[in-house]
Amino acid sequence: MGDFHTIDDAYLLVEDGLIKQFGPDFSCPVDRADVALDCTGKIVLPSFCDSHTHLVFAAWRENEFVYRIKGLSYEEIARRGGGILHSAARLQDTSEDYLFEQALARLHQVISMGTGAIEIKSGYGLTPASELKMLRVIRRLKHENIIPVKATFLGAHAMPTEFKTNRSEYIRLLTEVMLPEIASEGLADYIDVFCDKGFYTVEETDQILMAGNRYGLKPKIHANELDYSGGIQVGVKHKAISVDHLEYTGENEIAALSSSDTIATILPSTAFFLGLPYAPARNMLENDLCVALASDYNPGSSPSGNMAFILSLACIKLKMLPEEAFNALTINGAAAMEISSQVGSITPLKSANLLITKPVSSLAYLPYSFGSPWIDKVIVKGQVI
Ligand code: NIG
Ligand code: FE
Repeated sequence: MGDFHTIDDAYLLVEDGLIKQFGPDFSCPVDRADVALDCTGKIVLPSFCDSHTHLVFAAWRENEFVYRIKGLSYEEIARRGGGILHSAARLQDTSEDYLFEQALARLHQVISMGTGAIEIKSGYGLTPASELKMLRVIRRLKHENIIPVKATFLGAHAMPTEFKTNRSEYIRLLTEVMLPEIASEGLADYIDVFCDKGFYTVEETDQILMAGNRYGLKPKIHANELDYSGGIQVGVKHKAISVDHLEYTGENEIAALSSSDTIATILPSTAFFLGLPYAPARNMLENDLCVALASDYNPGSSPSGNMAFILSLACIKLKMLPEEAFNALTINGAAAMEISSQVGSITPLKSANLLITKPVSSLAYLPYSFGSPWIDKVIVKGQVI
């Protein structure tokens, strides 16, 4: 993961929205292009691939932020009806069109901050109608055809209050009502469960992932954010594309991941925002796990989709080297959405989704200068936006 090839004084040719060719400047096969960008002193990078977001939501939750400043925990706020359940209540009362409008604005915002591919989850619906509404919003974002979008069904994000004493009934609704409809409309690429203390148990997760599998949905799950929940192991058991969060990852979890193709996706802005311990990234890297980094953009635990900030957190808090962090934010993020043949690196025939930095002294300057706007230009499918 520390291998991040760079070429000094390079050219890069883009044609019809795709990367055509690149190499040292002296070997450039053309002497003029329709549009030429002089990148003297700058770095050209592949765009970020954000493989874990909750970009569709009805309202921000800065009131909970203030409660937490005053000392309440994230779990305590959730127990009192805040958190995900509060977001669900707001979303249920919001029209599909308005959700779409807000989500599209957020999508444009993250693109302007360098995101060139994104995964978006449902999970603030928690009723058949509202989960479908969220997934239809994601489908509309997909059809805007701006950047690649992957959709994940997260009906098992929290337990709705009315099912607290009858959990199996909600799980039945999820597996027997929501899943068939989602599958028949082709609304999701993946299935997710929040397998953690106070949310879904390993047994429930097992059951839900099994049902997802029957409808052809591969898992990408929330695991081990709040405890050693067994989420990583159940994800690996179901051949999850990725298990995400992973603040509580010990030797057993590393061993399970080592013997699998499941990507370990770390979401450091959640740990930053909620004051949780950070995932043991160095231990994961030393054990040769495939690590991706994503934003977890959502109103409760990571109200920002700024991947440049994730880059800085990865280096500062997870002790990842800049090269490792860039790989985790680009090609491994793309792999965690199964689109690494389209995006995630500067490779001929991949989409020309690129970032051009301002003039900078080195690659390491980028994470080092945390919070500074070092992106000069964002290019999507060959167009400067
Ligand atoms: O990934 N951990 C679970 N779900 C989100 C938080 C959602 C919320 O608080 O609204 C997360 O952190
Ligand atoms: Fe999340």
